Amino acid sequence: MRLRDLTLANRVWLSPMCQYSADEHGAPTDWHLAHYGARAAGGVGMVMVECTAVAPDMRTTVGDLGLWSERQVEAHRRLADVIRSVGSVPAVQLGIAGRKSSHGVPWDNTGTRHPVSPADGGWQPIAPSPLPFSGLAKPRTMTAEDIDRVLGDVERSARNAHRAGYEILGLQGANGYLFHQFFSPLANERTDAWGGDLEGRLRFPLAVVAAMRAGWPENKPLVIRTPVTDLLDAGATVDDAEELVAGMAERGVDLVDINSGALVPEAPRPSQPLENTRFAARLRRLGVLTATSGSVTDARQLHEAIPDSVDALFIGRAMLRDPYWALRARGGRPTDTWPKQYHRAF
Ligand SMILES: Cc1cc2nc3c(=O)[nH]c(=O)nc-3n(C[C@H](O)[C@H](O)[C@H](O)COP(=O)(O)O)c2cc1C
Repeated sequence: MRLRDLTLANRVWLSPMCQYSADEHGAPTDWHLAHYGARAAGGVGMVMVECTAVAPDMRTTVGDLGLWSERQVEAHRRLADVIRSVGSVPAVQLGIAGRKSSHGVPWDNTGTRHPVSPADGGWQPIAPSPLPFSGLAKPRTMTAEDIDRVLGDVERSARNAHRAGYEILGLQGANGYLFHQFFSPLANERTDAWGGDLEGRLRFPLAVVAAMRAGWPENKPLVIRTPVTDLLDAGATVDDAEELVAGMAERGVDLVDINSGALVPEAPRPSQPLENTRFAARLRRLGVLTATSGSVTDARQLHEAIPDSVDALFIGRAMLRDPYWALRARGGRPTDTWPKQYHRAF
């Protein structure tokens, strides 16, 4: 598959999945080298490294990776090199958590629905409007200066991702992160230019895309995980998403990674395999490539969806369970497809 100047060996990709295992400087550790290295050797066409924050207050937890410092760039360079050297394409997903920031990691006794206060090493979340996510802290309303600052953080992180050697730049634009918070009328109650009607709600997401493009070389692709509907009355709709995606395409987005729901815990959770592919046809008409993720566990589902419904699939939990999921899904003779170091196993 081609994306701008890049050729990918296949259309089965590692979905970005937070490991909450950054060091105290927000940099990748040996865990990330081992985890992503195994999956890169496991036959995926692209490894999308987990949500990586554009600024300290845009992390979800203290274990999140970041791309705001030189130290982080150096550690990411090692990670991108490992992914490339064992045969995959290194990509990184930028993260801007907004009101979903400053919570516990999943395995500690606080968990992701519990806020971590500034007194306990957390920070004050900021968001379009002072509406908290579930049990997390009430966010401070972003000022025009905050918005400018975050857009600058996005551009710097894009530049840093390029300097670290990543080939594809992603963004967590869905799952109720800041891009989604501005886009959805359920999280954006602003009455200034950054909210109100659809044009106002699109202003920040489209400015984020422009900032990513400004810091990222023209010949390298952009992939945005996009909230195509909130799946709730009064939430963002597929019609809204068509406007969003048309604007994203104009600003140089190559591929839309279709997501739905997840702005608030009450939203229905798509749980059927390939459920989000039903939105792809409308988006493809706007001149973007499409991918999605969700409950794919079987190689037959890949053939069902690619290329008729979507151009590629991100595989998440199945690849946490098995780093060689993609090689098994490919089938054929293992000695034609598996790393030569493993041929004696067959
Ligand atoms: C442990 C874990 C961490 C995740 N972290 C991220 C993330 O950093 N960014 C993101 O966009 N999605 C994240 N997700 C969602 C996955 O990328 C994927 O979209 C979702 O799990 C559905 O696909 P699956 O059924 O193949 O796992 C995470 C999921 C899991 C299980």
